[in-house]
Amino acid sequence: MELKTKKPLKKQVYLGKPHEPPPAELMAILDKFRGRKDALITVLEEIQHHYGYLPRQQLEATARELGFPMSQVFGVATFYNLFQFSAPGRYQVRVCKGTACYVGHSGEILEHLKEKLGIDEDETTPDKMFTLQTVACVGACSLAPVMVVNDRTSARMTPEKAWDALEHLRAEANGNGEVSR
Ligand code: FES
Repeated sequence: MELKTKKPLKKQVYLGKPHEPPPAELMAILDKFRGRKDALITVLEEIQHHYGYLPRQQLEATARELGFPMSQVFGVATFYNLFQFSAPGRYQVRVCKGTACYVGHSGEILEHLKEKLGIDEDETTPDKMFTLQTVACVGACSLAPVMVVNDRTSARMTPEKAWDALEHLRAEANGNGEVSR
């Protein structure tokens, strides 16, 4: 009787998940800086400008594409506090803490907004509506104290006026002009 021989088992080597190619918009940024080892901060600034923050996947792709160790990319990104690692809210609210605004009690505005929004500085509300931050002088000292929401600067703020402005934005975003109190 003929014996059936078993087929030899093939050795399988796990090579890990293949890397997804970076999205076109990221490639467009990276392509401008290939071979520029001195431009890492500028690259990260451009990525943040595009996405609103530094998504982890895009940082990994940046390290791979531009030939930086991942530790260096993270090291630079975490060293400078201008970089953010989570998606900002729909409205980025920045209270100016420059001298003129500070003298004009911008600290009270910040505290009031923290309390009303229930978040701390550099945090985002659970509904992803507001991210609260501070900023050094924005060059509008004669209008102090100021609050900047996305690109719009509001002059001579008080804690109440600042909160009213945010309530209106939330109401508008929720599709009704009415502000619920
Ligand atoms: S100090 Fe706030 S705008 Fe200059």
